[in-house]
Amino acid sequence: MRRAFIIQLVSLVFVTINCFAQDKSVNPDINKSFKKPVVSTFVERFEREGREVYDHREEIIEACQLKPGMVVADIGAGTGLFTRMIASRVTDRGQVIAVDIAKEFVDHIEQSCKEEGLKNVKGVVCGPDSTKLPDNSVDLAFICDAYHHFEFPYKTMRSVYRSLKPDGQLVLVDFDRVEGKSSDWILNHLRAGKATFVAEIEIAGFEVTEEREFLETSYWIRFTKSDRKTGSNHTTDSVDDIRRLLADGTAKLIDVREEDEWAAGHLAAADLVPLSMLRGLPLDELNTKLTDELPKDKIIYCHCRSGGRVLAATPILKQLGYDIRPLAFGYSALVAEGFKKAE
Ligand SMILES: C[S@@+](CC[C@H](N)C(=O)[O-])C[C@H]1O[C@@H](n2cnc3c(N)ncnc32)[C@H](O)[C@@H]1O
Repeated sequence: MRRAFIIQLVSLVFVTINCFAQDKSVNPDINKSFKKPVVSTFVERFEREGREVYDHREEIIEACQLKPGMVVADIGAGTGLFTRMIASRVTDRGQVIAVDIAKEFVDHIEQSCKEEGLKNVKGVVCGPDSTKLPDNSVDLAFICDAYHHFEFPYKTMRSVYRSLKPDGQLVLVDFDRVEGKSSDWILNHLRAGKATFVAEIEIAGFEVTEEREFLETSYWIRFTKSDRKTGSNHTTDSVDDIRRLLADGTAKLIDVREEDEWAAGHLAAADLVPLSMLRGLPLDELNTKLTDELPKDKIIYCHCRSGGRVLAATPILKQLGYDIRPLAFGYSALVAEGFKKAE
């Protein structure tokens, strides 16, 4: 009887969940030149003196403090300039995974590494919104001059987050874009500067642990994974962040109160996923029900009446693989913060 009620409730609940719009690329033309690239042209462009990261390649890799046995993902590996350097440092006890959206680059890296006798390099042709790396498999993700090419930065960085082991690290090297200071090429080529990229990466679940200042037009930053939560386990994301991420489609908001509370008033931006439903269904059944409706490639913010029930909902949704972030703000507090009530 109780089970029949829950299943009926589940169908009701999903009537309220909207269809999710396809996310848009943050920079649709940025990878035009990497569609079927002529590899030799890019070897000349990426592996030449005068390119800052080429001239400082030894310092860039030295700063990563690689050790034999490490598994390193070189994401946006291009022609493999850094892949080869990393391969010799992690030795045959370790591995480098050269990840790129362009198959031509990945094939070239695999071929050239074989010719050089480097046996610890594997190529992965990834998607524009995912590195396609297995969960919990990487010690260090290295991203040089490639983050600004990511068209779906949150999704790509969440795939990086998932691929990293619990104490895994991320090293980012990219051009800084400073109005009034950077070259016209940088100003035109990059959509944003260091502060924006660092904030985006932090939102995806990282925190800055180190910055080295030996580059003139670029920055070198190390990140570790971060839970982004307060002592009471609520998210540290600000209301402004939440508003922005909901507006640009990076996040969804769910309300884990019960149906009668929802009927008495709810937020226009929220979908109803009652805690009783999360608790009432076996995990595999819940996963099947939620998968089609609640995307796993978005941040899921979760609110209740006053910030208590969200803490019970969080571990359940986390087990299903969601980037779930419980809000200390309850329904009335969110209304007071300017979130619109549903008509
Ligand atoms: C400017 S190149 C940098 C290559 C190399 N890291 C270097 O510094 O020599 C940028 C690379 O990022 C790759 N790329 C673009 N979007 C990507 C994505 N979403 N995931 C992985 N690689 C991507 C491009 O195909 C290109 O090879």
